[in-house]
Amino acid sequence: MGVDVLLGLQWGDEGKGKIIDKVCKDYQVVCRFQGGPNAGHTLYAADQKIVLHTIPSAILHEGIDNLIGNGVVIDPVTFEKETDKLKGLGYEIAHKLIIARKAHLILPSHQLLDIASEQSKGLNKIGSTLKGIGPTYMDKTGRNGLRVGDLELAGFDKKYQVLKEKHLDLARIYPEVEYDLEKAEEKWFASLENLRAFRKVDVEYYIDQALREGRNVLAEGAQGSMLDIDFGTYPYVTSSNTISAGVCTGVGVPPGKIGKVIGITKAYCTRVGGGPFPTELFDETGDQLRKAGHEFGSTTGRPRRCGWIDLVQLNYSIMINGVNELIMTKIDVLNDFDTIRACDSYLDGQGEKTKTIPFDLDHSGYQPQYLSFPGWGTSLHEAQTFDQLPGAARHYIESLENLLRRKFSLISVGVGRDEVIER
Ligand code: GDP
Ligand code: IMO
Ligand code: MG
Repeated sequence: MGVDVLLGLQWGDEGKGKIIDKVCKDYQVVCRFQGGPNAGHTLYAADQKIVLHTIPSAILHEGIDNLIGNGVVIDPVTFEKETDKLKGLGYEIAHKLIIARKAHLILPSHQLLDIASEQSKGLNKIGSTLKGIGPTYMDKTGRNGLRVGDLELAGFDKKYQVLKEKHLDLARIYPEVEYDLEKAEEKWFASLENLRAFRKVDVEYYIDQALREGRNVLAEGAQGSMLDIDFGTYPYVTSSNTISAGVCTGVGVPPGKIGKVIGITKAYCTRVGGGPFPTELFDETGDQLRKAGHEFGSTTGRPRRCGWIDLVQLNYSIMINGVNELIMTKIDVLNDFDTIRACDSYLDGQGEKTKTIPFDLDHSGYQPQYLSFPGWGTSLHEAQTFDQLPGAARHYIESLENLLRRKFSLISVGVGRDEVIER
């Protein structure tokens, strides 16, 4: 029995939330292992839209423990908004939401630093969600951070003040930004009561015990593989390991206990924030994708950059994660396109063809080379099985399977929990 992993293969927003909500019935524990409120995972239950930032996407179901791992960074204010929203919708969550004591806390002054750092970068800004993610992980690796478990120990307020003062000293290197720290702190301290009420565990022991009891565990990725701090399009990345390796350090699982790795991709590609995106479309086709796919950020509402699927990029993500199984989402968004394209190589500045992600992707004017596929020009809503999909849609999917050398086990054709074709 191992820990299965479900994660995004692109630049985030692949539809992880919707798919976890669908597949979690096979698991008794679902855990987040990295990231924080920069994530926005959308679920639809009975036509009700719910966007989760910190809480795992199995929270609507009974009989599943939802675990926030040590690799996650938690903003108590966002967390309280999420728990209030779920409670307001009638979901009882206290008995099934569990938090790792070793998860780090995002302080208001981390957000202040995030805003100041981004602002100072000018045109080179990352496009951060400004939730304080980078500064919090910096304090974690810098060995200055405050953890959820510290809330239970004496001297928390003192530790908080010391860290805040350090942040204020640091902030002086940046031009001043507008941020009402006092007000943010008031909200932050008030929200700790909510956080304190949830069950805390030493997550490594919890997972070990769960596996020994034969419980099925699923790790839920946030962001996407191309936003990984080591293997993403650095420096336009997030500050955690979003890839499958992050599960080991993010919930305390030994590598040998990682089970299946399931990778999700959209039928096309999006990115929000700065950084390289070889297949990005700046024309009407890009606008059509954004409109048809409602491609606006779940956390910030920013318009997402849109383009064709990139198989060079996907093969890289499959390699680095050890993906065994694929899931495709949002193929219905392509219903009205006459021609659909997929990039299978890049030409570098000298006209040389490459199928690997170059170190200098950001600088050297790599040109994506495309394969073309005919569109199907019809809705997919009637299709219950793979065979009922239009021939052109099947051809697109099977061609990608050949090029990625992996099968799509699920194909998502709409926002609803059951708008999924299983194979
Ligand atoms: P996540 O961050 O990976 O969980 O993805 P987001 O929730 O940020 O963005 C995915 C968006 O696509 C959400 O608005 C989902 O409701 C929507 N979505 C997911 N799967 C499908 C699908 O198959 N078709 C369509 N049209 N929308 C989908
Ligand atoms: P989910 O889990 C898409 C992007 C930001 C920015 C960069 C760094 O919903 O897929 P950060 O706030 O981490 O400092 O931002 O990463 N980013 C995401 N893009 N989906 C996400 O999460 C993202 N989380 C961060 O836009 O470019
Ligand atoms: Mg998202």
